[in-house]
Amino acid sequence: MNGAQVRWGIIGTGNIARASFLPGLREAGGGVAAVVGSREGIRAEKFAGQHGVERGVEGYERVLEDRGIDAVYITLPNALHAAWTMRALAAGKTVLAEKPLCVSPEETQAVLAAAATASGRLWEAFVFPFQPQFERIAELLRDGAVGEIREIQSSFHFQVRSPANIRWSRELAGGALNDVGCYPVQLATLLFQSEVARAEASASWSPGGVDEAMQGFLAYQGGQALLFSCGMSRPYDTFTRIVGGEGEIRVRNPYHPQPGDPVQLRRGSMVTKERPTRDEHSFAAAIRHIHAVLRSEAEPRYLAQETAMQTALALEALRGAAQRGL
Ligand SMILES: NC(=O)c1ccc[n+]([C@@H]2O[C@H](COP(=O)([O-])OP(=O)(O)OC[C@H]3O[C@@H](n4cnc5c(N)ncnc54)[C@H](OP(=O)(O)O)[C@@H]3O)[C@@H](O)[C@H]2O)c1
Repeated sequence: MNGAQVRWGIIGTGNIARASFLPGLREAGGGVAAVVGSREGIRAEKFAGQHGVERGVEGYERVLEDRGIDAVYITLPNALHAAWTMRALAAGKTVLAEKPLCVSPEETQAVLAAAATASGRLWEAFVFPFQPQFERIAELLRDGAVGEIREIQSSFHFQVRSPANIRWSRELAGGALNDVGCYPVQLATLLFQSEVARAEASASWSPGGVDEAMQGFLAYQGGQALLFSCGMSRPYDTFTRIVGGEGEIRVRNPYHPQPGDPVQLRRGSMVTKERPTRDEHSFAAAIRHIHAVLRSEAEPRYLAQETAMQTALALEALRGAAQRGL
């Protein structure tokens, strides 16, 4: 670390950096947004001025060349995550890279190999496992509240209205599975801790050739199953059921919970409801954790190495299954 505060560099001037990462960084405390890099210098300076970043620079490389930067947040289109993550790791930075970390198992292997020998740590920006809601769900499951987990049913839909949005670009690895379907898959990776045995999927395709919506099924070697539905053309919906042999947990908003969102435990005739989500931005808990690790105050949790390959293999199996159905 370069001082008492973790000094962050941001690569890309995207919407999520403005709307989620920076408010989360402010709430987490212990870190500052020191520099933002853009393909356009003027855009970087404007973004820095408007959103409280110390300075803006032209070119992502300049963020990595800055020796005063401890950690880098990569908020680029999906097709660019892997290359910039590897460059950031090679520059000795700790990295928080947007999801999905990579767009194939081969890319994932290369990125994880780079992370294995790097001085910095690597996290993929699935921030929900760090939040109190997921911690409570994990605790209920550990305590056997629903018995052995058998199945997850999960949806994640929202509406992407602008045709210029990166999510509609095949070249940039857009599509519903990469954008939102990866959340149910990551949840299954975390909860099942098992490898995928079989995949089935059906997709509807945009004129530009990305999956606009996908419904899928993954069978895991441990005998569990994930049933999911995702898409970019329906109102927001992320309802999830985690079903065990003795009961189930129903979660209204599993991936971006708001205060007041319930977690419901149902076991026989017993139904209990809790609202574990705090009133803070979704990234705050993850960033607080990264700061604690960089200060040697905590052991790292949910590093990319723990889940990224299993999730990448599952996503690849689903892509293959959906393509076969064309
Ligand atoms: N973890 C979460 O909760 C969450 C939520 C939403 C999105 N995401 C992820 O965050 C990433 C960015 O999403 P976003 O909604 O912030 O996207 P966005 O607003 O379109 O931002 C993407 C940024 O990437 C840079 N870029 C580089 N090459 C580009 C190209 N060829 N076309 C367009 N932009 C390019 C641009 O910055 P410059 O032009 O300044 O270089 C742009 O501002 C995606 O991977 C997405 O999956 C994560």
